[in-house]
Amino acid sequence: MNSALPRYSRVLGTGSYLPPNRVTNTDLAQRLAADGIETSDEWIIERTGIRARHFAAPEVTSSDLALPAAKAALEAAGLQAGEIDLIIVATSTPDMVFPSTACLLQQKLGIAGCAAFDVQAVCSGFVYAMTVADSMIKSGAASKALVIGAEVFSRILDFKDRTTCVLFGDGAGAVVLGASDKPGILATELHADGRHVDILCVPGQVAGGAVTGHPFLKMDGQGVFKLAVGVLEKVARSVLEKAGKQDGDIDWLIPHQANIRIMQGTAKKLKLPMDKLIVTVDEHGNTSAASIPLALDAAVRSGKIKAGDTVMLEGVGGGFTWGAVLLDL
Ligand code: ACO
Repeated sequence: MNSALPRYSRVLGTGSYLPPNRVTNTDLAQRLAADGIETSDEWIIERTGIRARHFAAPEVTSSDLALPAAKAALEAAGLQAGEIDLIIVATSTPDMVFPSTACLLQQKLGIAGCAAFDVQAVCSGFVYAMTVADSMIKSGAASKALVIGAEVFSRILDFKDRTTCVLFGDGAGAVVLGASDKPGILATELHADGRHVDILCVPGQVAGGAVTGHPFLKMDGQGVFKLAVGVLEKVARSVLEKAGKQDGDIDWLIPHQANIRIMQGTAKKLKLPMDKLIVTVDEHGNTSAASIPLALDAAVRSGKIKAGDTVMLEGVGGGFTWGAVLLDL
């Protein structure tokens, strides 16, 4: 780093991890049928594009999934865990009420001393975490950051509610961001609108030694759908404008992997051909904060996304929250 030059952050490496238990729509339909609940592979594929998801074993936590993802990202970056000076984990399914999943991951990585904290912005969590890490690197507060999305969403699914339990999966994705003279992250933008807290929530808490309220995910699917498509287009355009770029400058679009129809709608509004859209929702389901880094890592490792490509990451989710990150890989 030349201290006379502006300081940016760049992606140095990516990694991801999926728990081994792959559950197809047909597997899930059989499980629900045992409780008299009807669903089908056809319905799930047609409405969502999802064919399978991975579920973690009961004893496996978000930090357990984050650990191999983090190690893979460190290896790709050519760094040792001890060189990391910031850990941010985006999760809505933390291992504990506290300490943070980031601190638990830090312990599992065998390092100590660097800042470590969680970000809670549901499915926008990874975009929020990248924005915070980018700002801390640009300001000089950090030089090498592990930014992770990790979820065990299966823990908060009500398997008696077919309108939600078919949509989600578990997994973790990681990025190492490092300080650089050369721009990597070009522009970021975050938003929230708490007027819509009710359309996607897990309205439960731990109190007096018991779980109170409703500890399962509740969603107004159509309400989420309508809000998501509008805000994703708007935030993408705003981030492009901040970076002085046009729609046509995007090589790859990685929206939050919730539903293929929302993703295709967003690509269409940005006039991007469908082959510029990175899709992993078919195999991962919606892994909330893990969905974008899982998709990014899959695309990098398959050779689709290459060094120098311009990539738009877009998150949207409970809160209601949304945001975007435009970066050159
Ligand atoms: N299997 C079979 N039938 C089902 C299922 C299921 N799993 N779930 C619902 N149905 C039935 C409903 O009961 C309803 O039946 P009815 O007409 O007899 O009442 C029918 O299918 C249609 O239900 P809708 O809820 O109207 O279905 P819709 O077309 O809206 O699709 C979906 C539901 C897929 C959730 C859609 O609203 C959607 O994509 N919403 C976006 C929300 C989303 O992706 N959320 C993910 C989390 S949010 C995030 O990550 C940003």
